[in-house]
Amino acid sequence: MLIREFVPGDTAAVCKVVERSLGENYAPSLYMTVHNLWPQGFLVLEGEDGVIGFVASVASTPKVARVLMLAVDPGHRNMSGGSMLMDALCSNCIATDIDTVVLEVRKSNAKAKLFYERLGFAVTGEIERFYTNGEDAYKMSRSLLA
Ligand SMILES: CC(C)(COP(=O)(O)OP(=O)(O)OC[C@H]1O[C@@H](n2cnc3c(N)ncnc32)[C@H](O)[C@@H]1OP(=O)(O)O)[C@@H](O)C(=O)NCCC(=O)NCCS
Repeated sequence: MLIREFVPGDTAAVCKVVERSLGENYAPSLYMTVHNLWPQGFLVLEGEDGVIGFVASVASTPKVARVLMLAVDPGHRNMSGGSMLMDALCSNCIATDIDTVVLEVRKSNAKAKLFYERLGFAVTGEIERFYTNGEDAYKMSRSLLA
């Protein structure tokens, strides 16, 4: 498995990962918009058969990156791909002088919350009815300062 920056030709594969892992069907143009905002913040995980995961983030302020989506295809989980994506993102943040990474996670997604905690994220708050189905989110944050 390797990590590289998203390129426009990855759009269809990323759409499939999003549909399978997050149950969403966003317009393909969304991915180009995110890519254009901060190319180093949109990374894909490539396996033998192509793209099997990705992380999409934006630099929400000059010092803070916000993860918009992270997913690895069900058949390729628990093989460190998600951790590799987050580690690569954090390295790109440090190289860009970003010192904090923030994200939201569904309160019901205990597995993802634990995953992020293992990577050094901590809950900093809650947002009521954050998701379109009315579900609440935990706000999580990780400082990249040594
Ligand atoms: C969250 C998600 C991205 C994690 O991806 P992943 O590729 O499975 O992540 P990793 O393999 O790095 O880590 C997953 C677990 O496998 C374990 N693991 C990693 N490599 C392993 C190995 N070689 N052998 C055994 N276990 C391993 C890790 O310890 C980790 O455990 P933990 O999460 O209980 O702490 C993935 O589960 C996913 O796409 N979920 C659906 C979408 C989602 O919830 N996204 C996040 C919220 S937006």
